[in-house]
Amino acid sequence: MNKVRVAVLGYGHLGKWHCQKVEANSDMAQFVAIVEKFPQGQEAAKANHPHVRVVSDIKDIIQDIDAAFIVTPTSTHFELVSYLLENGKHVFCEKPVCSNDLESKKLAEIAKNKNLILQVGHSERFHEAWEILKEKFSSLPTPFTVRINRLAAFKGRATDVDVVQDLAIHDLDLLMFLFAPRPVSINAHGFKIRTDKWDHASIHVEMEKGCQAIITVGRNHVKEIRDLEVFSKDGAIYVDLFNNKIYEASSSQFSDGAFVKEDSYTKRDHLLLEHKAFYQSILKGSPTVVDLKAGLNAVHLVDCSLKSMDQLNPVTVNIHG
Ligand SMILES: NC(=O)c1ccc[n+]([C@@H]2O[C@H](COP(=O)([O-])OP(=O)(O)OC[C@H]3O[C@@H](n4cnc5c(N)ncnc54)[C@H](O)[C@@H]3O)[C@@H](O)[C@H]2O)c1
Repeated sequence: MNKVRVAVLGYGHLGKWHCQKVEANSDMAQFVAIVEKFPQGQEAAKANHPHVRVVSDIKDIIQDIDAAFIVTPTSTHFELVSYLLENGKHVFCEKPVCSNDLESKKLAEIAKNKNLILQVGHSERFHEAWEILKEKFSSLPTPFTVRINRLAAFKGRATDVDVVQDLAIHDLDLLMFLFAPRPVSINAHGFKIRTDKWDHASIHVEMEKGCQAIITVGRNHVKEIRDLEVFSKDGAIYVDLFNNKIYEASSSQFSDGAFVKEDSYTKRDHLLLEHKAFYQSILKGSPTVVDLKAGLNAVHLVDCSLKSMDQLNPVTVNIHG
């Protein structure tokens, strides 16, 4: 295979950007179709991509593709991922890969023994900051504390799901991706402010070796905040994900006499990097960057958080692998 024949499923807020990235990777991808269920989205897709087929059902083009990007609402992911895998297609599915632990179990069973790529769209893994800090994070003295904030003013988007599935899933995945101690239990609480779903959540994660994380997410905040901090006996590391800055306060002064060191890193096109990684896995056998196991573990932490919020009790976590 020289080029991967692809379809994008869902021409909504994010689907439009995925279509743009398919076109930007024309050396590795052949853009076969856009699958959009509703007429308004279909018209917009046709206008913006006049040379691409636009259909309303994946079944209409399943024979003509090697892979698909699923960018439809979360509630549809399980059915679409299952259908594509059953038909021997590689899949890129936006986060969350499915809605809950029950679907996770069924999906793991369907994907078993299939020699197909399944990449999950945990785009927050692609910050350059994590490459810069990888060694520091892996050699942190334990116990340490992680604090992550992802807050924004109300935009009215993704209100079909809780803020845990929409936003906290990024941070629950980052926690497992960046730090070695595994989560062991979750104690979370939240508020339903504007919708009948959780609009705000504070998720306290107990990790191995006495480490802790506090993840705060909200979609009805007064301003936009995205940051991550780590505290240990060696000092503090603060990452401002909006302004692409890293600050460090060590246990001693830096060589220039300063108590705080400031660095910046390059802002990158995460979606483009995700697309490139997906094609390279299919065409060259490169390792999958965010595989199904990682996607399912993130869904499990979401499930535990929601259970804890509903029951107002800590919930035990069972991470796989
Ligand atoms: N990685 C990230 O940072 C990130 C950011 C935003 C959204 N997302 C994820 O992307 C997904 C889509 O989010 P969005 O904001 O673009 O939603 P959206 O509602 O704007 O768009 C979804 C589109 O899918 C279409 N659709 C629904 N069912 C379909 C089906 N069966 N077949 C084809 N089309 C169908 C809808 O008509 C709509 O146009 C969600 O799972 C969300 O969690 C990820």
